[in-house]
Amino acid sequence: MSEPAYIQDIGGYEGKTVTVQGWVADKTDKGKLQFLRVRDGTGVIQATLFQKAVPPEAFDLAKHVAQESSVVVTGEVRKEPRAPGGYELSVSDMHAVQLARGEFPITPKEHGIEFLMQNRHLWLRSSRQHAILRIRATIIRAIRNWLDDNGFLLVDTPILTPAAVEGTTTLFETDFYGEPAFLTQSGQLYNEANAMAFGKVYCFGPTFRAEKSKTRRHLSEFWMVEPEWAFGTLDDYMNVAEQMVSYVVQTVLQERATELKALERDTTFLEKIVPPFPRISYDEAVEIIRARGDANFKWGDDFGAPDETLISEQFDRPVFVHHYPTDMKAFYMAPDPIRPAVCLSADLLAPEGYGEVIGGGQRSDNLEYLEAQLLKHNLPRAPYEWYLDLRKYGSVPHCGFGLGVERTVAWICKLDHVRETIAFPRMLEKIMQ
Ligand code: 4AD
Ligand code: MG
Repeated sequence: MSEPAYIQDIGGYEGKTVTVQGWVADKTDKGKLQFLRVRDGTGVIQATLFQKAVPPEAFDLAKHVAQESSVVVTGEVRKEPRAPGGYELSVSDMHAVQLARGEFPITPKEHGIEFLMQNRHLWLRSSRQHAILRIRATIIRAIRNWLDDNGFLLVDTPILTPAAVEGTTTLFETDFYGEPAFLTQSGQLYNEANAMAFGKVYCFGPTFRAEKSKTRRHLSEFWMVEPEWAFGTLDDYMNVAEQMVSYVVQTVLQERATELKALERDTTFLEKIVPPFPRISYDEAVEIIRARGDANFKWGDDFGAPDETLISEQFDRPVFVHHYPTDMKAFYMAPDPIRPAVCLSADLLAPEGYGEVIGGGQRSDNLEYLEAQLLKHNLPRAPYEWYLDLRKYGSVPHCGFGLGVERTVAWICKLDHVRETIAFPRMLEKIMQ
C-alpha cells in the first residue's frame, strides 16, 4: 500500500502516489471521467478517475457512491491550478469503507437553521463549520499561549460549587449527595484564592448559566477564560485584557486567513485591533445613548444589546466601559473609594455590534464591605466563609476578568449567532444531541 497522507500536507507529495482516507463530499459524473471531492477533516481534494486507469470495481464505485460514504483513495498527487487547493489525486484505485445508507440529510442546497441544528452532528462536516471551529481552536490556543507566556499559571477551578458568583437567577442546580450544588457560573472566587497563593493565575473551562431568554449572545453552557492576579487594579486589568485580545486577533489573522476568507470575513476591521483600546466611563456611555439613541435612558440601568451597539459604533476597536453603578454589578466588585456609587469594574464591548465579550474589574479586598454586600445581595454567609477568609489573611488589591470564548468567536468570524461557535451548543431549547 502507498503512503497514507493527510490532505493538508498533500503539497509535499507532488509526483508521489499516496492513500487518502476520508469521505465523499461531492461528485461530478462526466461519463468516462469521475470527479470526487474527498474530505478527510484536514482538507478537501479533487480525486479524478479515468475509466481506463482504474479497476472496473473502483470506477463503478466512484460512479455510484453516495455523498458521505467513507472511502480510501490511492492516487498520484498532481499539481492542478484549477482544482480547489491546487492539487488533485490522479486515482489508480479506490475502495469503500462504508457505503452511506441512504441520502445524506445535508445537501448543497439551502437548509433552514432549525433543520441544520437538528442535524448538528452531521452539519459539522461542512466547510463553513470547519472554518469556524478551526478559528475557535486557534483563539483558544492563542489565549493559552499568551497567558502562559506572560506569567499566568493555569489552576483549574471546580465545576460543582456551593454558591453563586454572578447572581442567583441563572444557577443550574444539581443534587450533590442529597445537598444542592450548582454548576459553576464563574471560577472567579476560586481564582481569588489561587491568586493569593500563586500571584497570577487563570482558569479556562466550561461555564453554566440558566439564561431564560433566547438571544444571539447567550448560551447555557459556554467556555470562559478567567485570569486573576494579586496586586492588580482596574487599570492593570484593562492593560492586560487589551494586550491579550489584540494578540488573539492578530494570531487568527496570521494563522487562519484561509478560514476567514471561506467565511467572507472582511479582515480590515480585525487588522485595526491593536492596543490601546478606547476607555470611557459608564457616565460617558450614558451620554452617548442619550444623545444618539434613547433620550430617556436612566442612569443605573443596564445596557441592552442596541445600547451596546450604539456605544461600540463610535469606535473602530473594542471599547472598555468602566465605573459601572455599584448596584448593577456583582457583590464582589470594589466600590470607587471617592465615589462609592460606582465600582472599579469594566466591560469590554467588541466592535461591529457584538457587545460585551469581557467582564471584569478590581475586587473588594475589605472584609466588612463584603460581609455587608452578602447581606445586601441576600446571599447566605456559610458558603462564602472561605472566600471571606481571603480578606483576613493578607488581603491585597487584586483584579481579574472573564472572556467568553463563544462571543469572541462570533465577533472574529462575524457570525449572526453564537450557536455556530461551539460544536454542540446548549441553549434554551431541548438538548438534541
Ligand atoms: O460578565 P460575566 O458574567 O463576568 C463574570 O463571570 C466574572 N466573574 C468574570 C471574572 O471577572 N472572572 O461573564 C464574562 C463573559 C461575558 O463578557 C461574556 O463574554 C461571557 O462571559 N458570557 C457568556 N457567553 C455566552 N453565553 C452566556 N450566557 C454568557 N454569559 C457570560
Ligand atoms: Mg458581564
